Amino acid sequence: MSDIELRSKEETARQYEFMSKVELIVREMSGKAGRKLTACIKTFGCQMNARDSEKLTGILRKVGYDIIPEDREEEADFIIYNTCTVRENANLKVYGRLGKLGHIKESRPELMIALCGCMMQEPDVVEKIRRSYKFVDIVFGTHNIFELPELLCKRFEEQRQVIEIWDDTDKVVEDLPAERKYSFKSGVNIMFGCNNFCSYCIVPYVRGRERSRKPEDIIAEIERLSADGVKEIMLLGQNVNSYGKNLENPISFAKLLEEVCKVEGIERVRFMTSHPKDLSDELIEVMAKNSKICNHLHLPLQSGSSRVLKEMNRHYTKEGYLELVDKLRAAIPDIALTTDIIVGFPGETEEDFLETMDVVERVEYDSAFTFIYSKRTGTPAAKMEDQIPEDVIKDRFDRLLKLVQEKATKKNKELEGKTLPVLVETINPQDSSLVSGRLENNSMVHFPGDVSLIGQVVDVKLCEAKGFYYLGSRA
Ligand code: 5AD
Ligand code: SF4
Repeated sequence: MSDIELRSKEETARQYEFMSKVELIVREMSGKAGRKLTACIKTFGCQMNARDSEKLTGILRKVGYDIIPEDREEEADFIIYNTCTVRENANLKVYGRLGKLGHIKESRPELMIALCGCMMQEPDVVEKIRRSYKFVDIVFGTHNIFELPELLCKRFEEQRQVIEIWDDTDKVVEDLPAERKYSFKSGVNIMFGCNNFCSYCIVPYVRGRERSRKPEDIIAEIERLSADGVKEIMLLGQNVNSYGKNLENPISFAKLLEEVCKVEGIERVRFMTSHPKDLSDELIEVMAKNSKICNHLHLPLQSGSSRVLKEMNRHYTKEGYLELVDKLRAAIPDIALTTDIIVGFPGETEEDFLETMDVVERVEYDSAFTFIYSKRTGTPAAKMEDQIPEDVIKDRFDRLLKLVQEKATKKNKELEGKTLPVLVETINPQDSSLVSGRLENNSMVHFPGDVSLIGQVVDVKLCEAKGFYYLGSRA
């Protein structure tokens, strides 16, 4: 066992000791309150944060909290915000909600509030919380979420604001509790951090350098999940295509995928996110021949202009991206493609923007997330001259969104009449005679069914395409 692995194992054991201590404290508090204490975790941002929140949930449940849903936040004894900072408005949302929490805490001083996630890795944010939001009890970052038991213990014992942020870490702490939101599907981290430094992006600064988990740890986790009823796995990393390169025994992402597909009981495998610059022929081949891998690829474009892509430090060109799409479609003809696009990057001209529109026109994405460029302090793009005026960005954004929607509707229509497998997720919240589930391409399908179907993969005829979802019937 390497030094790092040994330290990580010791850390897990240490946190279990803190969990036992906190459990006693929470039990005593519950006894005094005459009821079980409740906790609520509000998650902002991406799939990584969603998975982190499942880990926080697992820890809180273990120490004796009942977990209540986000819409009952105001009655919780302990509120955690797992924050995102990828765009400025994510930060503004958190400050807005914190203001409200401050008022609740005035009338209920025993309410505990914790903040964690990407926003907390920014020194300015932590300083502001220290100064202006003194009522926040615990603050921690992305590198030490596993320390929640220790930080809780400290907060209970020392009765003061506890702030613990790490700049980076080489530790990957395994084997702490985690509780899934869905019984039948789960995200699995395969790597943490990002080394790409796209010039607009704050992620490498708040999530740290790339660290891959060992394949045997990943497979062991997936085997445990499968034994526990999980059928669909989403492998998570900021850039999964560079998985395994820095491991002691390097292994490619494609090889890992093949190993994951061998796990018995797992019926569907997804992954996120792929960087176009690192997408290998080996991966395309593995995707084409392995039926468990969903026919879907999220391939962020960001911009269709080669000049802007260079400024963004993306390491591919418009032509290179289009060639990759052709290669993918040749190998996997019915693959669904989705993407992320940023509008209004500094210096983006109308011509640059039209290049982006051209790629959307040609690729015909099944769906696309479109974002207005947000200036993130500390990134190279924030210092670039020629930031684009708001009205110009808004106009481009509206034009792009219209085209994206047109294409998505067209793609959506193409599947009408087909019969495809659907993993059933829930009873439809609007109409309880229907169930809702997802196709391999991640689109939602609603069809008549009951609770017994939840967690099952069933064949459904897609009777009517509704733009972003389908109405169907059991085949
Ligand atoms: N402004 C706008 N969008 C951004 N993204 C990342 N950083 C920024 C930013 N500063 C988008 C990218 C990425 C997605 C997760 O968020 O499109 O793929
Ligand atoms: Fe950000 Fe680029 Fe890394 Fe994605 S690949 S997280 S956009 S730096």
